[in-house]
Amino acid sequence: RRTPVARQEDGSYVVSTYRELTELLHDPHLSSDVRHLSRPMPSAEGGDTPAFINMDPPEHDRLRRMAMRHFGPPHTPGLVAGMEGDLTAVVGGLIDDFAGRDQIDIVDDFAYPFPVTVICHLLGVPRDDEPRFHVWVDDIVNSIDYDPRTDPKEKLDKGVRARQDLRQYLGGLLEQRHGRPGDDLLARLANDDGPDGRMTDEEIISTANLLLIAGHETTVNLITNGMLTLLRHPQVLQRLRDEPGLVVPLVEELLRYEPPVHIIPWRAAYSDITVADTVIPKGSQIMLMLASGSRDPNRFHDPDSFAPDRRDNQHLGFGSGIHLCFGGPLARLETQIALTELVQRLDRPGLVADPPPYRRSPVLRGPIHLPVE
Ligand code: HEM
Repeated sequence: RRTPVARQEDGSYVVSTYRELTELLHDPHLSSDVRHLSRPMPSAEGGDTPAFINMDPPEHDRLRRMAMRHFGPPHTPGLVAGMEGDLTAVVGGLIDDFAGRDQIDIVDDFAYPFPVTVICHLLGVPRDDEPRFHVWVDDIVNSIDYDPRTDPKEKLDKGVRARQDLRQYLGGLLEQRHGRPGDDLLARLANDDGPDGRMTDEEIISTANLLLIAGHETTVNLITNGMLTLLRHPQVLQRLRDEPGLVVPLVEELLRYEPPVHIIPWRAAYSDITVADTVIPKGSQIMLMLASGSRDPNRFHDPDSFAPDRRDNQHLGFGSGIHLCFGGPLARLETQIALTELVQRLDRPGLVADPPPYRRSPVLRGPIHLPVE
């Protein structure tokens, strides 16, 4: 409340209030290109070739537009529009696999495998290859919060190897798609002759990688944070059973109240920027505290309460501006279906430990396990 913009000892700036965050997310003087940071950091996707989440206009806009033509929000004829049946079937299958057990782990048994399976379907990965995908994603996700002070180097090496193997595998898949139009995302991108021309193979592979990495742990955390919040609010859980339509505003409230992305750490100032009477000098790294903005008492009434009936819920859970989450429609649909099916099918679920153990990352927040009996 007192310090919307704060300078840290290392020279970076932390911005934590709704108005200032929104202003900066729409400011063309901020760059997402991690090479502009005074202290370079890995890109979101973690690979050597940046993907469009870590690019600025005009390149960002061209690649995002090309990918969007095929992915599309539910109201355009993109891939996500027709996925509801598929998603419900994947969720049903996962629940069938653990039905009847005394105790399950919402993360390992459900939330973790679900989004990888979905992305595999979208990209057109053959069923038999899916287990390899799960292993690569595991190794990459595990290496993201690598800390050289406490972690064995092997953890980092595994992540690097998994990234290489994944890129090589996607390259092979892409080769088979050239000249053979089809319905999956790789085939669509490889044969696109739209107004922006074609993506190069490198660009397609980086984009596919980005969808996988940006869309995996975030969705795992939203589903897990959602189940945890429902178990802590049993009257809301019961309401969701009785009124399935509640799931739509409930997922929006989760994105505000327990968001998977707490911080966007990779913005840099292209020029001096004045925000809330503070001058942020050119070249500074800026940390955007999205989760804090979504609980700003100047924007949200009673911000620390979980209120699924909340109106005008313009949270920052998916960011805002030109980098607004590309997978929002898919993540919403996945989480709505996951929570609806879980509350319908779990019989009197209860938490085994509260709080559950959390992942270490300050950027992506969610439990590492969520045992439920
Ligand atoms: C961007 C959150 C799921 C793909 C973002 C950003 C946020 C975010 C905060 C903005 C990053 C920035 O401004 O630098 C989330 C959350 C999700 C989720 C909370 C789940 C609950 C997904 C899914 C996909 C996806 C499922 C794809 C399959 C992307 C991409 C971008 C992005 C490609 C970059 C957009 C751009 O740079 O134009 N996401 N995301 N996300 N997200 Fe998501």
